[in-house]
Amino acid sequence: MRLSSRLPPGFEPNALTATLARLRVQGREVLDLTVSNPTRCGFAYPEAEIRAALAQPEVLAYDPDPQGSRTAREAIATHHGHGLRAGDLLLTASTSEGYGLLFKLLGDPGDEVLVPSPSYPLFDWLARLEGLSARPVPSYFHDRWHLDLGALEAAVSPRTRAVVVVNPNNPTGHFLSRAEWTALTTLCAERQLALLVDEVFADYALEPAEDRLATALQDPEPPCPVFLFSGLSKVAALPQLKLGWIAVRGPGAEAHLEALAFLADQYLSVSAPVQAAAPRLLELAAPIRTQLLGRLGANLASLDVALTGQPHLSRLPVEGGWSVLLRRPAVDADEACALRLLEGASVLVHPGSFFDLAGDGHLVLSLLTAESGFREGLHRIFPWL
Ligand SMILES: Cc1ncc(COP(=O)(O)O)c(C=O)c1O
Repeated sequence: MRLSSRLPPGFEPNALTATLARLRVQGREVLDLTVSNPTRCGFAYPEAEIRAALAQPEVLAYDPDPQGSRTAREAIATHHGHGLRAGDLLLTASTSEGYGLLFKLLGDPGDEVLVPSPSYPLFDWLARLEGLSARPVPSYFHDRWHLDLGALEAAVSPRTRAVVVVNPNNPTGHFLSRAEWTALTTLCAERQLALLVDEVFADYALEPAEDRLATALQDPEPPCPVFLFSGLSKVAALPQLKLGWIAVRGPGAEAHLEALAFLADQYLSVSAPVQAAAPRLLELAAPIRTQLLGRLGANLASLDVALTGQPHLSRLPVEGGWSVLLRRPAVDADEACALRLLEGASVLVHPGSFFDLAGDGHLVLSLLTAESGFREGLHRIFPWL
């Protein structure tokens, strides 16, 4: 039987994943400097409080609202502030599901969205699975990351429906500047595009620039439709609870929310327990984030110490987020380098090419790694770079 052409032609693991599996079968202990799952990083969660939040009487009642429970939306609106109201929000089971809804909302098969790259690699598949394509538009690094606004404008075609930005970006850590925000929303308004802003990492500012756009919600009345994404997976470091949300602003917001609620009503995928627990979980989230911020800062400091005496290596500034870009002499392709480090030093890192970083010479390291493991990993990989 023929399967949908939206699927990849095969499901073979890439060379890095296949090598990792082989080494682990051989019993090799591999240090993972790509971890993005906070539940596996040794953080002290308030376990009893999280369990209690998920054990309230409401978890036994089914009272579905396609936008998500009002109580949960009120708590999320309060968490964000900036005048956000419960009525501006729609709950999803994850940010990924939110993208699926948005791409269904905005596009017809064959339409496209523009994505300043490097960026989150999942966009490609999330768009394709909805019959759309994600077209990368390279950003550039000059002292800091910049959107190439001219290239974005030139890339708009009659099939373009939206621009998707991540603020701060994964993996570059780039926060949009306020000037970039103004230019981007003006472009979207002029060309009748929606602007999707993924702010899952917005609470994790590390080395932010003065003029950063801390959140798109700072703009109460954007001139184009704006859809902001966030969720518990990063806000509370609780990805297993599966709660994301979309905040809708700008022209047509009410109609867009109505249509999104129609789409969400076909699935009703957000569980009652997590919606009941959301207000309490958001209260518990601040100290969890403080732990993560401590870890991210400590690892960045360790990296700086390790880099002294390694003049051929450097790192890019990390305005925000959970990863850092390590720059190395491009003596081989990024993926070949990552394979060398895995085979030779038993350390897993991501090649920059996984995120569409131009050229070779970048490795992506997760700053979420436990501190001793991070230092040990650097110690092991530096002789190979
Ligand atoms: C930019 C970005 N958006 C969304 C997500 C995932 O969010 P969720 O777990 O809610 O699907 C990630 C995960 O790493 C991410 O990097």
